Amino acid sequence: MSTVLITGANRGLGLEFARQYKASGWEVIAACRDPVGADALGALGVEELALDVGEPAAIGAFGARLAGRALDLFICNAGVYGGKEGQQVLGQVDVAAWEHTFRINAIAPLKLTEALLPSLKAAKGARAVYVSSLMASMAENTSGGEYIYRSSKAALNAVIKSLSIDLAPLGITVAALHPGWVRTDMGGPNGMIDAPESITGLRRVIEALTPADSGRFLAYNGQEIPW
Ligand SMILES: NC(=O)c1ccc[n+]([C@@H]2O[C@H](COP(=O)([O-])OP(=O)(O)OC[C@H]3O[C@@H](n4cnc5c(N)ncnc54)[C@H](OP(=O)(O)O)[C@@H]3O)[C@@H](O)[C@H]2O)c1
Repeated sequence: MSTVLITGANRGLGLEFARQYKASGWEVIAACRDPVGADALGALGVEELALDVGEPAAIGAFGARLAGRALDLFICNAGVYGGKEGQQVLGQVDVAAWEHTFRINAIAPLKLTEALLPSLKAAKGARAVYVSSLMASMAENTSGGEYIYRSSKAALNAVIKSLSIDLAPLGITVAALHPGWVRTDMGGPNGMIDAPESITGLRRVIEALTPADSGRFLAYNGQEIPW
């Protein structure tokens, strides 16, 4: 049986990843900040582990807790949008919100990957995928604004690119993923697709990844996103 670890698995895209992988017969390790309050996740009957990705010490301990277990797939999904309404508008960008968003969206994914490396190495041909965003793309930025979110996911993409090179000799395939504009708490009610459609597509993309794809930036429908 293959094993997947998903961060931010209590709601939104992370919950749907957990639901679909569980239904497909995978062993699912679902990480979230508050397993006790994660009712929808609890109903899936998967293994739940507490993790606040904003705490570097907790990340190290989390990796140690998984020591000796092989991870076939790491889905780095937990993310934040960038503070409260208005905090990423030109003229009023909030520094504390920016720092926090960088910590969650860009720094935590790298520190988690470091902590999970023994478990990824223990699996044959592991994959590590990171939920990025089209909004990180320089080429696709035609509307401006959203300074905090865009820059945090662009930083994540730089991390992913280096990881794809550094982890290639270990046989670990790395990719940046765009889930589409999805109707979740973050995406809001006007999103173009729902979580089941996004995750069905992303699972297909992940399944098709080969080592030759490492370092690519792919959307849920398989389309390549320009950096
Ligand atoms: N929805 C979209 O349209 C869209 C588009 C492009 C990219 N994305 C990306 O997709 C990913 C999932 O987004 P979503 O739409 O599912 O958002 P969401 O519904 O807001 O869920 C965000 C998840 O991240 C978790 N999280 C936030 N801060 C955390 C922390 N410090 N430690 C651990 N977990 C934390 C949340 O946990 P709590 O419940 O504890 O807060 C929650 O599980 C994010 O990386 C997002 O940037 C989403």
